[in-house]
Amino acid sequence: MTNPTIAQAQEHVMNTYASFPVVFERGEGCYLYDDGGRQYLDFVAGIAVNALGYAHKEYVDRIHAQLQKLTHLSNLYYNEPAVELAEKIVTHAGMDKVFFCNSGGEAVEASLKLARAYSKQHKSDDAYKVVAMYNSFHGRTFGALSATGQTKYHKGFEPLLPHVDFAHFNDIDDLKDKIGPDTGAVILEPIQGEGGINPADAEYLRQVRQLCTENNIVLIYDEVQSGIGRTGHFFAYQGYGVTPDIVTCAKGMGGGIPVGAILAKDHIADAFVPGSHASTFGGNAVAATAALVVVEQLMQKGLLENVKKQGAYLKSKLEQLQQSHGLVLEVKGLGLMLGIKVGTAPINIVQKAMEKGLLLVPAGSDVVRFVPPLIVGEEEIDQCIEILDSVLGELQ
Ligand SMILES: Cc1ncc(COP(=O)(O)O)c(C=O)c1O
Repeated sequence: MTNPTIAQAQEHVMNTYASFPVVFERGEGCYLYDDGGRQYLDFVAGIAVNALGYAHKEYVDRIHAQLQKLTHLSNLYYNEPAVELAEKIVTHAGMDKVFFCNSGGEAVEASLKLARAYSKQHKSDDAYKVVAMYNSFHGRTFGALSATGQTKYHKGFEPLLPHVDFAHFNDIDDLKDKIGPDTGAVILEPIQGEGGINPADAEYLRQVRQLCTENNIVLIYDEVQSGIGRTGHFFAYQGYGVTPDIVTCAKGMGGGIPVGAILAKDHIADAFVPGSHASTFGGNAVAATAALVVVEQLMQKGLLENVKKQGAYLKSKLEQLQQSHGLVLEVKGLGLMLGIKVGTAPINIVQKAMEKGLLLVPAGSDVVRFVPPLIVGEEEIDQCIEILDSVLGELQ
């Protein structure tokens, strides 16, 4: 018998997601509970979103207190949480200014517009072309979709926005071939997420930076998935030591409350003036409070160290699994943004793991992704590995 909630969803919600037939009611720490009370260990975290897991006391208390004071204002006026968040986030990122929005796609759109504004003001009116990467993912809005280097997302929505070209990731010669005097921006993910957890080579990033600087091209890093602690650094680029001109973030930033942002240095950010860009909900006081708690946990309360420690532990455990299971072809990623390349359709592993009470999510065509809450501990990692071990054994 179909679950009544699922039946209702099928009747009333647009059919854009192939959701698993489970309805979750609540969560605690790294665990979710469905409507029948069954417990699941969550290594998906709302797809790299729920940084503090579920029902984190300080997160809930602070959002609750803010809700009682003030929810939304618009950007006609100032609110304290947003300004405090702005100061903290740009300081930790080594940037100067932030623009707040509500999602990853929206952050990517803002980054493309800021790059366009900068190029028109400081390069030439014709420097409007964007070079993005094959195998990238930047979101579903038209600008972000047009910069996404995977045709499966384009299908049925062409023509996309013009003036976007693609280069092969980690191939500096290809990028050199693709840029010209009309190139305004290069956009890339320092670690491709949806494309299959593919980290950039450090030397490649250094060369991209140099190429962009020499040619007055705005370098955008899309850190919607890798940003805000996920890789064991506040932003992944800080681990590489190669700074972009604009960085996007969203996903984990609000720990589950929708919030996104772009950050930039002053000489780039100044290309935006009043009226250039806007977002009604951007800098919403509740969303900003949620993000403030996440940032404070990461940078003042030891969470970033936990990501480094548990990321290394999980990676070592996955590498051990690779030794004992031929289905595991490669272990890759940084911090708690990890993946295993597998010799079967990833969904087979995801489905069997779910039957055994472990939530996982594929990335790309051949990778199973591990993006647990950043509060994850050794005990939960051991439990994840034990379940995965048995899944892989059954599928072998
Ligand atoms: C790197 C990257 N950019 C952008 C997006 C789009 O984010 P959103 O779904 O919040 O619009 C995603 C989502 O997976 C992403 O991974």
